[in-house]
Formats: sequence, C-alpha cells, structure tokens
Amino acid sequence: MKDLKYYLDKAKDESFAIGSFNFSNLETLQAITEASIETHSPVIVAVSESALKYMDNYVVGLAKCAKENNPNLFLHLDHGKSFEVCKKAIDYGFDSVMIDGSHLDFEGNIALTKSVCEIAHQKGILVEGELGQIKGIEDNVSASDHHFTNPEQAKEFVEKTGVDTLAISIGTSHGVYKSNANKLRFDILEKIQEKIPHTPLVLHGASSVGKQQIQQFEQSGGILEKAGGIADAELQKAAQQTHIAKVNCDTDLRLALTSEIRCFLNQNPDKFDPRQYLALARENVKKVVVEKMKNILNSKQKIGC
Ligand code: G3H
Ligand code: 13P
Ligand code: ZN
Repeated sequence: MKDLKYYLDKAKDESFAIGSFNFSNLETLQAITEASIETHSPVIVAVSESALKYMDNYVVGLAKCAKENNPNLFLHLDHGKSFEVCKKAIDYGFDSVMIDGSHLDFEGNIALTKSVCEIAHQKGILVEGELGQIKGIEDNVSASDHHFTNPEQAKEFVEKTGVDTLAISIGTSHGVYKSNANKLRFDILEKIQEKIPHTPLVLHGASSVGKQQIQQFEQSGGILEKAGGIADAELQKAAQQTHIAKVNCDTDLRLALTSEIRCFLNQNPDKFDPRQYLALARENVKKVVVEKMKNILNSKQKIGC
C-alpha cells in the first residue's frame, strides 16, 4: 500500500497532480470516491474548518467508508487556521492537515506552522503550510491584490517549520469570481522550485469555473455576476509540468451539485424524495471530478504505480 507522501513526491516529479476535492456532505464524498475508483486515481478528500464544524465527528465514519472503497483516498484538513483545529483533525485520524498561517506575519506563520508539524509528525501525519496569500471574493479584495509567494522566504519557511508540502500564491484565488485574464505566474513558481526542489507544492483556488458550468448554473435559475475561473491550459501546465503535486478544487463541485438540484426541483415541483435529486447531483459532481482527473490533473491510472 502506498501512502500519501509517496503519491505527493511522485506527483511532484512526474507529469500529474493529485486532486484535492472539498466535501461537506455524503453525496459529494461519494462522487469523488467513485470518480477516483473509475479513473484509478489517488485522491485527497478535503474538509475545511467550517465543513468540519458542519459534519462534526460524522466525518470520521464517512471517510472510513470512502477509504474502504478506495484505499488510495486520503483525508485532509483544508485551511486550518489554529493549532486547536489541527489537533482536532489529528486526533480524528486525518492523513494530513493544512495549517494556514498566511494571515500572520512571517515569523508568526513560522511559529504556528512549526508547532503543528511537531504534533502531526509524531503521529506520521503530513502538514501543509501556506506562504503568500491566496485571495478570494470572501476576502473582499480583487485578484490584483494577490500577495505572491516570495521564493527566498519559501526556502526559509520550509527549513524552519519542517512542513511536508507548501501552498503557494501564484495568481489563483478562491471562489467563483476569479479573474480569467489573470495568468498564473509560472516565473515565480519556477523560482520557488529552484529554492525548494524537494517540496511538493500545492495550488489552491484551482476551480475552472468554466463557461459550461456557469451556463448550467444560470440555466437552472442561479444568478452569478461576472463569474470566471482559471483557464484549463494554465491548470494543465501547473499540474503536469511543474512541482505542483496537489491541486485544490471546491467551487466547481458546488456549482455542479447545486445546478442539478435546482434544475430538478424547478422541473419537478411535485417531487420531494431527496434521493431523487441528490443522486442526480452526485452524478453531475462525479462527471466534473472524472473530467479533471483525466484531462487536467492526469492522475488517472496512477494508483499503486
Ligand atoms: O478554500 C476554501 C474552501 O473552498 C472551503 O470553503 O469554508 O466555505 O467550506 P468553506
Ligand atoms: P476553488 O474555490 O477554486 O475551488 O478553490 C478551493 C480551494 O482552494 C480549497 O482549499
Ligand atoms: Zn484553498
């Protein structure tokens, strides 16, 4: 059995990346798991702090079932902002945790990240840190307000904290309102790779928010204004030609799930069995994940090899 570190190192050096997909309900987790089985992809299922609060300890049982169906599936805490929430995830038996100290100053980020590494590594759990700031609409700033990762600082950060992977800021942002015109800064990425050649890198905010997804959402009755994401070619290059080993995606799955549910409920006002629309929504999410695994991440057929 290969562990997560094996896959991350391999993804860094070879032409693929592992998808990290967020979930906060059963059907999304099932969709991701089924997609990973169908494409023979190792996969990370990620739980944000707020999703952890929402699912509480149910997350442990859900992930246990998903792992039984695909042993190459790994449970990850996404954007843990405090020592306490990371400790909770570690105690729950997560495979890896992200401590996101990017809101702190450099020294504060180092101290917090190091403290999480100390308790996680005792249990063989991996730690992802973040340096630079990955913006999103929730932060109330535009994409041009990115604070890109400083390659010199990246080296010092990795050496002083002992993180296993590093989330970097090279132009992506969270949520549905990314700037399409905003090209990824592969020049910065290259410099980071030179400074920390042994560290698998992580790309957050990597939803495509493609035309088709926006159209599907709007046709179901949803409203979005100037939504946009990252071009597939940029994501393919990052996943397949660089040290980016983990690619985070949440928004595309939310859009797929919600579009299908709204569409069904609008068309079938007499129906009220949740399994009818949740099964359709699950299928729609699975389609999105399969497509990413095959065409963006190139993680297909990478299990065990
Ligand atoms: O990067 C953030 C994720 O999209 C999670 O968002 O806190 O709403 O679950 P959330
Ligand atoms: P998106 O909002 O682009 O899906 O990014 C999700 C993410 O980075 C989770 O950590
Ligand atoms: Zn993120």
